[in-house]
Amino acid sequence: MAAAGSAVGLGNIWKFPYVTGDSGGAAFLLIYIVCIFLFGLPLVLAELSLGRLSGKSPVAAFRQMGNRGWSGVGGLSVLTAFMVLSFYIVVCGWTLAYMYFELTGEIDGTNQAALQQTFTDFTGGVWAPIICAAVFMIGTAGVILGGVGNGIERVAKILMPILFLLLIILVFRAVTLPGSWEGVKFFLVPDWSRLDGETATAAVGQAFFSLSLGEGVMITYGSYMARRHHLPTDALAIVGLDTLVAILAGLAVLPAMFAAGIEPGNGGPGTTFMVLPAVFAEMPAGWLFGFFFFLLLAIAALTSAISPLEVMVRYLGDEFGLARKKATILSALVSFAVAVPAILSFGPWSGVHILPDSSIFDSLDFTATSIGMPVGGLLTALFLGWVIGPRAFQAIRHPDGRLPIWAGAWLFVLRFITPLGIGWILLSSLIMD
Ligand code: PHE
Repeated sequence: MAAAGSAVGLGNIWKFPYVTGDSGGAAFLLIYIVCIFLFGLPLVLAELSLGRLSGKSPVAAFRQMGNRGWSGVGGLSVLTAFMVLSFYIVVCGWTLAYMYFELTGEIDGTNQAALQQTFTDFTGGVWAPIICAAVFMIGTAGVILGGVGNGIERVAKILMPILFLLLIILVFRAVTLPGSWEGVKFFLVPDWSRLDGETATAAVGQAFFSLSLGEGVMITYGSYMARRHHLPTDALAIVGLDTLVAILAGLAVLPAMFAAGIEPGNGGPGTTFMVLPAVFAEMPAGWLFGFFFFLLLAIAALTSAISPLEVMVRYLGDEFGLARKKATILSALVSFAVAVPAILSFGPWSGVHILPDSSIFDSLDFTATSIGMPVGGLLTALFLGWVIGPRAFQAIRHPDGRLPIWAGAWLFVLRFITPLGIGWILLSSLIMD
């Protein structure tokens, strides 16, 4: 449950739709799905297995099952988790603000210019987005500190199906808006001419981001999973659910975007927040629907945000013997310190570029999502495939001790397909730049 909670979050509902919009629609969707099943599914299973086999957090897991050198891969994943948390928490804060905006009626209208204005005014400010992110970070740290992870899981178990239901209702409303049909076509009918060298990189990055791969989350959670769990079933459920939610979100946001007259590619990180309120406004008691939607989104975001924090806390505990409380406070503070410049990069610091042409927020996102996660995933695949090898089968046996018939194929994919595929995509994007 926790692993599924980590996977399903803002990555599906906030990020997936605008990345799909920016990267060419249906053609991107197809490549994304290939990435999910070719790289994502085998790796979710690999990371969970690594956690189960070692019973350790990433750095220690690589050290114990491999050697000191390999523990560097664990270090890389902790670093990536830290970067993820720093920009993720920014958007988590937005969900709180949008709950408030729905309640006050501030965004209860279909005027797209006004909705965009609200978004840019809010994110471009200083204190409001900082306070929202701070509140969210405190909540996230509180969950880890209070050891209420189980409680959150139980709450999420009830609330996530409701979020799912709201999404389905939203899809129906969105695709029946005037002008939205073009968006449905954009999302489902591939136009290959829209593809460019960046598409595959974006697809791998998005797949890894959405599945919480390559930053130690699944390793850490795998180390907690009870023996009676059959990891392959869990991996398939996580991947299936995550993909379904992303597709539903795409079917809601992209048609709404076309209906609002926003060109695909011009949406950017604000897309979901700018176009969904207009769909809510077209529903009876839309503000109430909108409020609940953002509330559930905030909870989905919380069950995701706790996972990179858990990776950092476990790392500080395992490697430096830091008590859980100290480790949590330290990790939250450091991540928040990096989140502040990322927040300001939507406003006063929008001119500050770290990577060429990229704001601080985008640079963090790109470094974590398009480099850290795929590289981490590639190395994890190599590690499981070659260093651990058939020993990994121990983690995927049926409870009665039988080995799944596809075990050999899984190892083959981890040894060759995943590393070569990701390596090729990363290299070609470097060369094409
Ligand atoms: N998978 C999460 C989402 O889709 C984001 C995330 C990425 C969480 C990496 C933890 C680590 O929202």
